Amino acid sequence: MQSNCIYLDNNATTKVDPEVVELILPYLTEYYGNPSSMHTFGGQLAKVVKTAREQLAALLGADESEIVYTSCGTEGDNAAIRAALLAQPDKRHIITTQVEHPAVLNVCKQLETQGYSVTYLSVNRQGQLDLNELEASLTGNTALVTTMYANNETGVVFPIEQIGLRAKEYGALFHVDAVQAVGKIPLNMKNSTVDMLTLSGHKIHAPKGIGALYVRRGVRFRPFLIGGHQERGRRAGTENVPGIVALGKAAELEMLHLEEATKRERRLRDRLEQTLLAKIPDCEVNGDTTQRLPNTTNIGFKYIEGEAILLLLNKYGICASSGSACTSGSLEPSHVLRAMGLPYTTLHGSIRFSLCRYTTEAEIDQVIAVMPEIVERLRALSPFKNDEAGWLQAQEQTLAHR
Ligand SMILES: Cc1ncc(COP(=O)(O)O)c(C=O)c1O
Repeated sequence: MQSNCIYLDNNATTKVDPEVVELILPYLTEYYGNPSSMHTFGGQLAKVVKTAREQLAALLGADESEIVYTSCGTEGDNAAIRAALLAQPDKRHIITTQVEHPAVLNVCKQLETQGYSVTYLSVNRQGQLDLNELEASLTGNTALVTTMYANNETGVVFPIEQIGLRAKEYGALFHVDAVQAVGKIPLNMKNSTVDMLTLSGHKIHAPKGIGALYVRRGVRFRPFLIGGHQERGRRAGTENVPGIVALGKAAELEMLHLEEATKRERRLRDRLEQTLLAKIPDCEVNGDTTQRLPNTTNIGFKYIEGEAILLLLNKYGICASSGSACTSGSLEPSHVLRAMGLPYTTLHGSIRFSLCRYTTEAEIDQVIAVMPEIVERLRALSPFKNDEAGWLQAQEQTLAHR
């Protein structure tokens, strides 16, 4: 198994912080009790869970009673959407966007088969929403507006409070998928229009298997997982104590590092981006570069395939990600980049680099050193190097045969 690499795929998942690992080990070995037990061995863990809940609430500017633990971001998104609909059974309309994560998009698609109507708001070439389209879509029948805070592929940040204000005017609940934003953008739920907010531990240096949903006090909530009384009846299932402790500590560390890490990641990201744009012809940044996460860049390299770039990067021990979701052997171009209306020439050759607080100057130097050669090599092999029309035709034929 490979453990050493230049890891620039932090929007996919992150390394668990060593301080977090150290802190949770006793909860896997010695203190394995159930926090709901009557005996001291288990019951003492309720206090540990409370402390972790306070740590997470502090990162969100929320009250600890507003935190509901989940197993991941996907569960948080599912739970929030279902809860909003169950709480308002008379309303049958949902508004979301075309660029959401499948954890939201696929739930909405399923709800369409169950009698709900869904508006999928479009984005422009920069990946931004048109708030007029949102306003025109809202009606008294809209139960929920659910949008992401920041896009996982491009890092584009949506104007959350402006969206929330419009949702409130029509009495709709507002859920935000903040899986990519938490720890990268300062949050304060106290003065916010957000009713529910999803986050995921493994994106902020906690382990996989733990997430949380913020539910504003007073918002009517129906549980997604039904069973025991855990999480004040809002999410059944024995608490994942090591995960909860990890998420609390990870949240505390994110708060501690937020300002400095954000500055550093932005500087490294910008250096990577600007140098690649200067050294490599025919490439461009995908998405709004002014409203964007500090750690993410998505660059389209014309006339070549992103997957080929990734394979060559992998040979140098560099981990990044492409805009295409490779599912069941077929390479579909990213739904996010397609919604932005990118041309086929760029759509297929897009690569996402996502940094974190552990990313070093030397790692960025290494990527800068190898990328121009990789792109040149692939372009030399590409039959469409200087033939945009031929490339477009070939892509269209490929798509037509799917
Ligand atoms: C924006 C967004 N929402 C939801 C999820 C799902 O989170 P999880 O992997 O914790 O289920 C992800 C994961 O990549 C994401 O980027």
